[in-house]
Amino acid sequence: MRNFTSITQLGNLEEAMAKAFEVKRNPFADQALGRNRTLLMIFFNNSLRTRLSTQKAALNLGMNVIVLDVNQGAWKLETERGVIMDGDKSEHLLEAIPVMGCYCDIIGVRSFAKFESKEDDYNEKILSQFIKYSGKPVFSMEAATRHPLQTFADMITIEEYKKKPKPKIVMSWAPHPKALPQAVPNSFAEGINMTDYEFVITHPHGYELDPKFVGNARVEYDQDKALAGADFVYAKNWSAYQDPNYGQVINKDMNWTITEEKMALTDNAWFMHCLPVRRNMIVSDDVIESPQSLVIPEAANRVVSAQTVLKEILLGL
Ligand code: CP
Repeated sequence: MRNFTSITQLGNLEEAMAKAFEVKRNPFADQALGRNRTLLMIFFNNSLRTRLSTQKAALNLGMNVIVLDVNQGAWKLETERGVIMDGDKSEHLLEAIPVMGCYCDIIGVRSFAKFESKEDDYNEKILSQFIKYSGKPVFSMEAATRHPLQTFADMITIEEYKKKPKPKIVMSWAPHPKALPQAVPNSFAEGINMTDYEFVITHPHGYELDPKFVGNARVEYDQDKALAGADFVYAKNWSAYQDPNYGQVINKDMNWTITEEKMALTDNAWFMHCLPVRRNMIVSDDVIESPQSLVIPEAANRVVSAQTVLKEILLGL
């Protein structure tokens, strides 16, 4: 594997899971693989889990790690070609990217959707420039349209906790005060579509995702109906994808919050969320603190997910 920007690049899912569980069983088996190799992690946006878990994964593999927060301590970067740079941006991404490539062997990039242009976001304008100009393998630490390391961790977690071969997975929209990208739900849908699980996506009208990601999922606008008999409830907010409301909050209906009453409709489902989560907007205190909540095991599996992917990239160097 050279670049990792989508869960589909894992190839055979069963084999990828087997590799992940081997990494989980024996996290320090590949210390020699990363020796004298450097990972550069570049953040255009904030992070807690991705930052710590990816760094831990690289250290487990014996790598050196450099972290750059682009908006804190680096020169402000211009991303548009043709701009007269007489403003506050001192450096262009077209020089900065190949320079960064000189200092490392692998680059991880976090760059969220900006909601200025749907076309730019869905063409992954920033991530694709790193792939084109850095000269190094690049992996996504959440880009504009996908968060594959999160999805891989989610799928590892489902594999660990499922009680039947084909569980019912319900991905439910839930309210949030701010406009959030579609990256996590897109990516989760992409991953679950690689399985033969029963998959239902539920959201209010106007929150339809890109059909490319919805795939074979059943879309159900009645959340209660969707939750009936669920084995896993994956809660997430996202902003509108469809025009003319792209990137906007068009509904804050608190009836979509995942509460004990909502979970009672399920088949004693596990509750999942990628975190960070707004309590009592997305999910009630009672549900996230319940024994059915998997939010901490999911976060722990972010190390396994990142380490499995980094190992594959290192093997390809
Ligand atoms: N789930 C996740 O990616 O968390 P962070 O934004 O804290 O990295």
